[in-house]
Amino acid sequence: MNRRKSFENQVVWITGASSGIGEALALAFAKRGAKLILSARSTEKLEALAQKCKEMAADTSDAIALTLDVTDEASLAGKTKAAWFTFGQVDLLINNAGISQRSSFLTTSMETYRTLFEVDVFGQIALTKAVVPLMIEQGFGHVAVTASVAGKVGAPFRTGYCAAKHAVMGFFDALRTEVTDKNIEVTTITPGYIRTSISENALTGDGKAFGKVDSNIGKGMSADDCAEVIISKMEKGVAEIPVGKGMEMVALKIKRWFPTLLLKMANGMYKKAAKENDFE
Ligand SMILES: NC(=O)c1ccc[n+]([C@@H]2O[C@H](COP(=O)([O-])OP(=O)(O)OC[C@H]3O[C@@H](n4cnc5c(N)ncnc54)[C@H](OP(=O)(O)O)[C@@H]3O)[C@@H](O)[C@H]2O)c1
Repeated sequence: MNRRKSFENQVVWITGASSGIGEALALAFAKRGAKLILSARSTEKLEALAQKCKEMAADTSDAIALTLDVTDEASLAGKTKAAWFTFGQVDLLINNAGISQRSSFLTTSMETYRTLFEVDVFGQIALTKAVVPLMIEQGFGHVAVTASVAGKVGAPFRTGYCAAKHAVMGFFDALRTEVTDKNIEVTTITPGYIRTSISENALTGDGKAFGKVDSNIGKGMSADDCAEVIISKMEKGVAEIPVGKGMEMVALKIKRWFPTLLLKMANGMYKKAAKENDFE
């Protein structure tokens, strides 16, 4: 726990880097002198961010945009080769790309549930499958995933998102048991409400974007503060990183120690969210 890792000169590959937590992580790693590979689907945003990272960053820092869609499984081996080719190694992969949900169970199509799992679960697994063998070959590596408090606690109007985030928590906890002795570190990150575009981009029942900043996200922690907490905990070698500032962080503890009480509180959350958003 006292161990301090430096990211200076380390190659950090971040998915979901075009916005929100991923973008803030990129800037915070750049300040520390990391070399960055920035991935998402929006090439222009990534290129602008790469430029910004290079301009504001430490001397050792560098950044490139590597456009990808985590659901395009067939492309990920090629993208991984391109990542290795760029800086000769990858020290840390942060599987951060993700999409949320704002819709009731009764109105959510199976297609929307499948899309959430394609992006939030299979996308993370597929890229990790492409990357970890090369990390083992190079003799070291670190893989992180941005899960969520929703990966620990069931929250209303996010049945698919909570299921997906619980799935990645289980996957990466299990992966850790298999790769630690191969010198690969695994970190799970469980943010609470962070002020990003997550609710605007969230899927509604028929797959359209929700398009609104909901009140919890609007009052959440800034993405910059979130990135600082994540990196400072990674520097200390913390394996599971909760990050946030609201009652949702208390809910994590209540779920652990008093699960029945948390289930009662979740009913209150349901009524508040249903009223605020007119959910059925
Ligand atoms: N904000 C929160 O309150 C919160 C809380 C807990 C967990 N999280 C998690 O944090 C992560 C980042 O979310 P955020 O809050 O920063 O939201 P955001 O601002 O909406 O960013 C989401 C990022 O994911 C990328 N993305 C989405 N689908 C993708 C795909 N198919 N392939 C590649 N990239 C894709 C988006 O870029 P493109 O559209 O350019 O592809 C964007 O860069 C997500 O995993 C989210 O579930 C967020």
